[in-house]
Amino acid sequence: MTLRRKALPTTLAFVKTIDLRSDTVTRPTQPMRDAMASAEVGDDVYGEDPTINELQRRAAELMGKQAGLYVPSGTLGNQASIHSLTHPGDVVLASVGAHVLVYESGAASAVSGVQIQTLGREETGVFEPEDLISALTPNEAHFAPHRLVTIENTHNRAGGRIFPFETLQAVTTTARKHELGLHLDGARLLHAVVATGIPAHRWAEPFDTVTFCLSKGLGAPVGSVICGDHDTLMLVHRARKMLGGGMRQAGILAAAGIYALDHNIDRLADDHAHARRLADGLEDLGLTVRSKPETNMVMFEVDDTTAFVAAMKTRSLLINAVDASRLRAVTHLEIAKEDIDDALGRISEILNEGIR
Ligand SMILES: Cc1ncc(COP(=O)(O)O)c(C=O)c1O
Repeated sequence: MTLRRKALPTTLAFVKTIDLRSDTVTRPTQPMRDAMASAEVGDDVYGEDPTINELQRRAAELMGKQAGLYVPSGTLGNQASIHSLTHPGDVVLASVGAHVLVYESGAASAVSGVQIQTLGREETGVFEPEDLISALTPNEAHFAPHRLVTIENTHNRAGGRIFPFETLQAVTTTARKHELGLHLDGARLLHAVVATGIPAHRWAEPFDTVTFCLSKGLGAPVGSVICGDHDTLMLVHRARKMLGGGMRQAGILAAAGIYALDHNIDRLADDHAHARRLADGLEDLGLTVRSKPETNMVMFEVDDTTAFVAAMKTRSLLINAVDASRLRAVTHLEIAKEDIDDALGRISEILNEGIR
């Protein structure tokens, strides 16, 4: 039987989907795909993939560390680091709303047997040396030992906020005084680098382990790198193997990471400008923006996120709710200035319909 295709009505207008749910939605561009297709590969579990080795070298250099280790995801990067720097029963200190606590399926307790204690306020993702000191307990049998501090920079649930450089120095110095390990969840560290002009290696300097993601604002389809000194990375390497993160001819993926480092760092400034443009436009429409965007995220308030998200979806505008009253829009390399203006137009229509 031959199926007859129905002719589409000629009046049906094409509405472009504007996807501001996350910077993880970016798809590899043709030049990035070309770099992947022609990558030299080998078995990385034997350490023989030249493209992965090159990516790891480049990442370590960028972060000012001795070595780098390619991992499939930021979650694996964080968890392999936590596993390497703690013992079961330890306490890990992290900011309120930290990704390692909220969005990693309880991995820190399930995989490493640690408890996470939160510090500071979720609106900023920042905590101070005094917060850290007041969380510490005596070295005595009743108390679980505090072993590690993790800092998330930029902070996802705080809307892409940058951990202020001076505060980071003060907190990490205090942590060292108390013999605590330090891990940086720098999934979007390069956003902080571009926004502040402070190089990555200066942000990374105090930390034992630093992870950053290639698959978010940098536009690669997969991958993060953990950086640290040789001894720490031996432990991290074992943890990666244990967690099933050892890959074989994955240079085909790492090539996208190298392409991203070469081409997609400086352009993050465009994403930041687009986020500011969106925030200003939302305020002009009478909506409350939680705080001026510092990087590529805009947190804004509506009365009912479920109704608002649904109304946006019918207009092919995708933005995620963070909770019942907060929406988070994320700019990235598939979003142009015109898309921001278009998105504001669609939001204006929704407001005009009385949905808030
Ligand atoms: C701050 C932060 N850390 C870690 C991750 C985890 O990255 P992945 O999704 O690659 O596991 C994310 C993901 O969005 C993140 O925002």
